[in-house]
Amino acid sequence: MAGVKAFAYSCRRVSWLLCGLCDTWIGVRAQMRLGSCQNFHDFRRLAKRRLPSPIFDYIEGAADDEVTHHRNTKAFETCDLVPNVLRGVANVDLSVTVMGQKLALPVYCSPTALQRLFHHQGERAVAGAAAKYGTMFGVSSLGTVSVEELRKAHDTPQIYQLYFHKDRGLNRGMLQRAKDARVEIMMLTVDSITGGNRERDLRTGFSIPFRLTLAGMLQFVIKPMWGINYVTHEPFRLPQLDEHVDISAGALSIGRYFTELLDPSMNWDDVAEMVLQWNGQFCLKGIMSVADAKRAAEVGCTGIVVSNHGGRQLDGSRASFDQLAEIVDAVGDRIDVLMDGGVQRGTHVLKALSVGAKAVGVGRYYLYPLAAAGQAGVERSLHLMQTEIERDMKLMGCTAISQLSRDNLRFR
Ligand SMILES: Cc1cc2nc3c(=O)[nH]c(=O)nc-3n(C[C@H](O)[C@H](O)[C@H](O)COP(=O)(O)O)c2cc1C
Repeated sequence: MAGVKAFAYSCRRVSWLLCGLCDTWIGVRAQMRLGSCQNFHDFRRLAKRRLPSPIFDYIEGAADDEVTHHRNTKAFETCDLVPNVLRGVANVDLSVTVMGQKLALPVYCSPTALQRLFHHQGERAVAGAAAKYGTMFGVSSLGTVSVEELRKAHDTPQIYQLYFHKDRGLNRGMLQRAKDARVEIMMLTVDSITGGNRERDLRTGFSIPFRLTLAGMLQFVIKPMWGINYVTHEPFRLPQLDEHVDISAGALSIGRYFTELLDPSMNWDDVAEMVLQWNGQFCLKGIMSVADAKRAAEVGCTGIVVSNHGGRQLDGSRASFDQLAEIVDAVGDRIDVLMDGGVQRGTHVLKALSVGAKAVGVGRYYLYPLAAAGQAGVERSLHLMQTEIERDMKLMGCTAISQLSRDNLRFR
């Protein structure tokens, strides 16, 4: 008996050692490649190399023909920057104040689901990098690290992203939990009243837990390092939801989560009730029409995000940047208008801020670096973004974000 125990113990030691060595090896290789990443496309390529394709497709994919997804970035090309020169730009201040939070950078990490599937550090990496660059980050209802743990780890402003479930008790409980954790901003996503048609996920069988098609499974076989990392770290969980949703009971596809658990009857009365319960900074994510922006201000929201969910919900919806000006004109003097969608460059950020956004959210921009190299990847992407914005501000002749205005822009 003692011999069997000793043998099992040695096996465990050897497997830990092997996992440790694998981790180190992956880390060193990722660091080497990371150093040569200069932009969004480099990170994307590195992430594609590392991830099994069903996971990569989940990140990159969007709804239907993915027209809105691509249009989000293209929209920035319809507008040109007009610089001023000879203005003494030795010191540039990139800080902004958004919904009462002072940020060192006008860019924040928008909430995204399932981050520990992309890299085992998941939300811990994103929160750590956001804190290092003095900006805020969002934790999704479908986050894989608890809101409390992240709050304890960092002081940087935190957003809690809420999906509105049919179970009203669950919604109230989630709000209270975020309040108890001292989260600064509640962000209710309102563009996901039903699941977007993400055909890439349907093809691969992407779901939680995995219910892959044969072709999808093969992709995991040819990317074994991802699997080794996945099984040698803590088990996958959805800590914001796991007291209420049993993900082990059967495959819960993202589409089914939206369609079966979220409440399509959500309306403005529900928002008004939540604003009252939260009694703090409350933001709606996914506002695209002027009418809705005005209504958000009327029910007491302090912010809105002009967003089409990175093109993942209603394909054919207008690009966020195209829609920004009319929303800023309608409510910009009453509430903070933020935007996200398609942002890949410092100049994209400058254009959105010039139109009147108070800050700009990024999704895939930090998710590919996360997948490529964990926290080091997200830090490098934020570093590059900070450097680009600072350089571009100097080239524009501006020393503070408040100096950017529509005078700097011409639309084609
Ligand atoms: C993989 C992935 C998961 C996402 N998960 C969420 C989510 O859980 N909640 C949410 O409100 N938005 C979610 N989003 C949307 C982002 O918050 C953001 O609106 C979008 O990514 C911005 O577009 P971009 O990726 O082009 O920057 C997700 C986006 C991606 C790419």
